[in-house]
Amino acid sequence: MKKDFISIKDLTTAEIEDIFSLTDKLKRDKPKFNKALSGKTLVLVFQKPSNRTRVSFEVGMYQLGGNCLYLAPDEINLGVRESIKDVARTLSRYVDGIVLRTFEHKNVFQMAKYCSKPVINGLSDFGHPCQALADVYTIKEKLKRLKGLTLAYVGDGNNVCNSLLYVSAKCAMNMNVASPKGYEPDRTVIKEAKAIAKARQASVNLFNNPFEAVRGADVIYTDVWVSMGQEKEAGLRKKIFKGFQVNKSLVKLAGKNCLIMHCLPAHRGEEITDEVIDGRNSIVFDQAENRMHVQKAILIKLLAKQK
Ligand code: CP
Ligand code: NVA
Repeated sequence: MKKDFISIKDLTTAEIEDIFSLTDKLKRDKPKFNKALSGKTLVLVFQKPSNRTRVSFEVGMYQLGGNCLYLAPDEINLGVRESIKDVARTLSRYVDGIVLRTFEHKNVFQMAKYCSKPVINGLSDFGHPCQALADVYTIKEKLKRLKGLTLAYVGDGNNVCNSLLYVSAKCAMNMNVASPKGYEPDRTVIKEAKAIAKARQASVNLFNNPFEAVRGADVIYTDVWVSMGQEKEAGLRKKIFKGFQVNKSLVKLAGKNCLIMHCLPAHRGEEITDEVIDGRNSIVFDQAENRMHVQKAILIKLLAKQK
């Protein structure tokens, strides 16, 4: 049976730990894996722009001895030139896996339903699971543990925030989310993450005041106020999110060792200031690098044994 990677919700804590331990091995002993996916081809079907996701998957496949193809938004024109169903069935005949970056989350399910090969969510309006897994792996690498740590997410309750809620709960971390009223994370995700966290003696707490959310945090995380596809709302969003900037006075409340994270791309001067993102506690480029290592582990898990 093929396995997809659509949401972190679908992974058990043991599976997450397993991916992290394979990632450690991949980072320690890169040459050992240089034929792990030899003869395999991955295709990236992207409806939105990308730097990190595209390059980390392409280079990752190359380092594992496989091939990677990139289909840009205009090329395949998903759902317009051809239905997702037909794209999925066609690509199943050529490739060993698909990474889909799309607007609507339901497109990922649709692709997975009609594709006989593993489908990976490379970002949808609901989640960014590859990002959140790499983020928590990075926290573990830096702080040597996860259980009991507090991650404070400041800003839009968006795709990245939803995925972070699932993964931090599954890893027994506490998560505080500070967002303006009406821009909280998905309601179902909050409910489910709260239950998962509670079972692991951790918690999910929502705030409308960023200063309350970052007190005692081990990590402060933020993301853009205007995600891809929301460009028309930019003016309004910039006004609403004004008080949610990760700047020196906010970070000061969390303590001097608090790590600073951002999935990137960053809009410097909006959700985060230059001095914070370039400061000594910022680990944003380690996060970006770990996207590749963690995704290599995911690719091995999903693709290696497929016929
Ligand atoms: N963080 C992230 O997914 O970056 P890209 O949009 O550049 O791929
Ligand atoms: N929330 C952002 C993340 C980009 C990696 C977006 O969806 O545009």
